[in-house]
Amino acid sequence: MFDLTGKTIVVTGGGRGIGRGISRSMAKCGASVVVAGRSEAPLLDTIAELEALGARAIAVPTDITSSDSIAALVQATLAEFGSIDCWVNNAGSANASDVGPLIDLDEAQWDVVVDLNLKWTFFAAQAAARQMVTQGYGGSIINISSRSGSQPCPMTGQYGAAKAGVESLTATAAAEWGHHGIRVNAVAPGLVPTEESLAPGGSMSKPSRRARQVASVPMRRLGTVDDIGAVCAFLASDEAAWTTGETIQVTGGSRIPVGYLTYMHHITEQLAAEQEAGGHNG
Ligand SMILES: NC(=O)c1ccc[n+]([C@@H]2O[C@H](COP(=O)([O-])OP(=O)(O)OC[C@H]3O[C@@H](n4cnc5c(N)ncnc54)[C@H](OP(=O)(O)O)[C@@H]3O)[C@@H](O)[C@H]2O)c1
Repeated sequence: MFDLTGKTIVVTGGGRGIGRGISRSMAKCGASVVVAGRSEAPLLDTIAELEALGARAIAVPTDITSSDSIAALVQATLAEFGSIDCWVNNAGSANASDVGPLIDLDEAQWDVVVDLNLKWTFFAAQAAARQMVTQGYGGSIINISSRSGSQPCPMTGQYGAAKAGVESLTATAAAEWGHHGIRVNAVAPGLVPTEESLAPGGSMSKPSRRARQVASVPMRRLGTVDDIGAVCAFLASDEAAWTTGETIQVTGGSRIPVGYLTYMHHITEQLAAEQEAGGHNG
């Protein structure tokens, strides 16, 4: 793996899911890790795991949708480790209550998803960049996007739009901050089951659904949180010194718009049912 010894890395949403995998990969490479998120229990659990790997790590309860909370995260990191070398904007998602076709989408569903995934990813990146400029020796910012950022994203269109925005801002920030030595990249995962999505009632809880998704992946498996962590460790490392402004797809080769195809299937069935009902009525 890459050598991150001596580097301090902040991972937002680092206590669960992909964020935990990123925190673990960074710790395995020798980094000190600041794990941030709203719920304290998963943060403490992650810290225990990182310390068992021999890493220094702290948990900082943080709501990334608050400027004050972001500022407090920066200060807590500096107080413990003295610098920020890499900042991973991983906190993000779309809840079940925010899923639906664009025609029915309301303002609240738009705001909550776009704010978390786009607006606050930007302001967290800006806070990290300002600190890196002050430090005077650059750093690495990694934004977690999604395969959905560059494909049609039926039923969570606002999430796809937010992630597309993240990729655009990644490229612009890389252009504006490169002369400070700050690299800005995005990582766009394909489908990665997590504790939450695999739990009963979660979006990946049904084996039949997982099997359907696997069938669309050239590498014949879904992603793991460590697959995403490994690419982030590269982007944090000095080996990535000339890599900036990029969005790296980490999808097992599944650039096929699976969600789109599934949705088109659903529409075809719906239209056929409507036609049949119309025929019977007529
Ligand atoms: N899993 C996938 O298949 C997949 C695919 C493509 C992209 N992604 C992206 O990968 C990232 C992680 O996704 P995941 O699947 O691991 O999600 P997850 O299991 O739902 O975890 C989300 C993480 O973000 C944190 N978080 C949410 N809102 C927050 C807030 N306001 N302030 C601070 N932390 C917050 C959560 O912690 P708390 O709730 O404790 O705050 C949690 O640690 C997201 O950006 C997601 O869009 C995931």
